[in-house]
Amino acid sequence: MKHLNVAMIGSGFMGKAHALAYANMPVHFYPAPAIPVRKVVVDVSPELAKAAAERLGFEESSTDWREVVNRPDIDIVDICTPNDSHAEIAAEAAWAGKHIICEKPLARNASEAKTMLEAVTAAGVTHAVGFNYRYTPAIRMAKKLLDAGRIGKVLSFRGHYMQDWSADPNTPSSWRFSKATAGSGALGDIGTHVVDTARYLLGDIEAVSSVLATHVTERPASSSAFDQLASGDRSGSGAKVPVDVDDAVYSLLRFSSGAIGTLEATRNARGRHNYLGFEIQGADGTIVFDYERLGELQVMFANDRDDVQGFRTVQAGPFQPYGDKFWPIAGMGTGYLDVKTIECYEFIKAVTEGRQAAPSFEDGYKVELVADAIQTSASTGQWADV
Ligand code: NAI
Repeated sequence: MKHLNVAMIGSGFMGKAHALAYANMPVHFYPAPAIPVRKVVVDVSPELAKAAAERLGFEESSTDWREVVNRPDIDIVDICTPNDSHAEIAAEAAWAGKHIICEKPLARNASEAKTMLEAVTAAGVTHAVGFNYRYTPAIRMAKKLLDAGRIGKVLSFRGHYMQDWSADPNTPSSWRFSKATAGSGALGDIGTHVVDTARYLLGDIEAVSSVLATHVTERPASSSAFDQLASGDRSGSGAKVPVDVDDAVYSLLRFSSGAIGTLEATRNARGRHNYLGFEIQGADGTIVFDYERLGELQVMFANDRDDVQGFRTVQAGPFQPYGDKFWPIAGMGTGYLDVKTIECYEFIKAVTEGRQAAPSFEDGYKVELVADAIQTSASTGQWADV
């Protein structure tokens, strides 16, 4: 069986998810298109990198991503660093002829994303961006229902991604609260997942009317190299540093198809832990998804008998996309790692078949165009074309 050597840059939250996906993928998808070999992991200090290699099962560790991505024995570069280094690492990796999977958002803004798309296109390598949620079996099932016309003409989309890990003003700062490193706040971090999901299910967004808000304008400084999210120290001690990104984004959406919609995202919604979801209304039915119950899809078909009209709950299982690769019985549960494992499979398959993955850097760039338009609209108070 073919083996592909992976160099992973960044070993935080996403480094852990990707490492587990590399290990799990060939178990679920047998025979795998190729075996991903966890060759070398890179982080900012020798201590972090060495510990990451031990913990995540990589053969080697390094602190020099530039040297690593140019190594002849590396086939795949996996970018799991904060957003400000995505473009530079991707350009170097493309130049070295490596296939690239880069975490989302692809970049801090559309112009940076465009340079990344141009670099991978010129190099002719396979590229993917980590908008993993579209691989969720229940979301794939929603897509199948839409494509089959089961809810008729799609009229509207209500999308949201609400979290609460930064609702406490004493949640420490991190790269996620700095425009220089993150590009934007809730918009880039989680709002872009909604944009990708909306594009995947309904097609392109052509105009937006948006508002952004920053509710917590300073936070205690953090001494950690990586973002501890909700698990960080909230004692409130230490100097405060300014927050210069949005905490919340709300937007109206107009799709090229004629459908209309909304996007809501905030990391300060008390009680909402990972409340990513959507409701899609069609002329002949409605589909509802909530990631906090990611193994389920709520569907309503208008052609049901009048006396049983209403939502039904479908449990994801072997009859839904990818379901047969996991457990032989519906309702056994799907988790975040399963979604990352499917993403890994699709990327490795695209590499071995010499074609683009989906979502690719082109999708990542198009999402950044929407994110830029949302910021333009919020600052002008007008609708903005994408
Ligand atoms: P994190 O803060 O947990 O980890 C980042 C890691 O990168 C740290 O270990 C840090 O030391 C390392 N790092 C920073 N600069 C580096 C450099 N120049 N060279 C090598 N290592 C470097 O961050 P997290 O949450 O893992 O986020 C990473 C990326 O993944 C971001 O782009 C983020 O938006 C994305 N992400 C995607 C998610 C998804 O659901 N697809 C969920 C969470 C994050």
